[in-house]
Amino acid sequence: SPGDAGAGAVVFKRCMACHQVGPDAKNGVGPVLNGVVGRPAGTYPGYSYSAANKNSGLTWDEPTLTTYLRAPRKLVPGTKMTFAGLSKDQEIADVIAYLKQFNAE
Ligand code: HEM
Repeated sequence: SPGDAGAGAVVFKRCMACHQVGPDAKNGVGPVLNGVVGRPAGTYPGYSYSAANKNSGLTWDEPTLTTYLRAPRKLVPGTKMTFAGLSKDQEIADVIAYLKQFNAE
């Protein structure tokens, strides 16, 4: 099914230890994810990325994010995102739909 942003807000709770979104979002363990859908990897201002992420050459379009969120360290070996990944296609689609809501911040 298409991604559901409301369900994605619940999935995003699993990202919130490290990531913020919204008008007051700040970099923390991980970078701010406002505007991440469609953004070149490793480009959020003021965040200290790993070389692996910064030099990945990836752009976080929906297919690339889908592959990444399934197994981050498989797509970006050496990333410092220590998150195993999401196991269900639906929760991946949902969290991407949620993140897209923050593309106008
Ligand atoms: C990087 C998404 C969970 C820590 C990223 C990036 C995305 C992302 C898209 C790349 C951002 C960019 O290049 O600007 C998510 C989502 C999560 C999640 C959707 C939940 C499903 C987590 C968790 C942690 C974490 C739980 C901490 C344990 C990081 C770190 C980076 C990162 C440290 C920087 C990676 C690097 O520079 O190598 N995340 N993340 N993330 N994330 Fe996550």
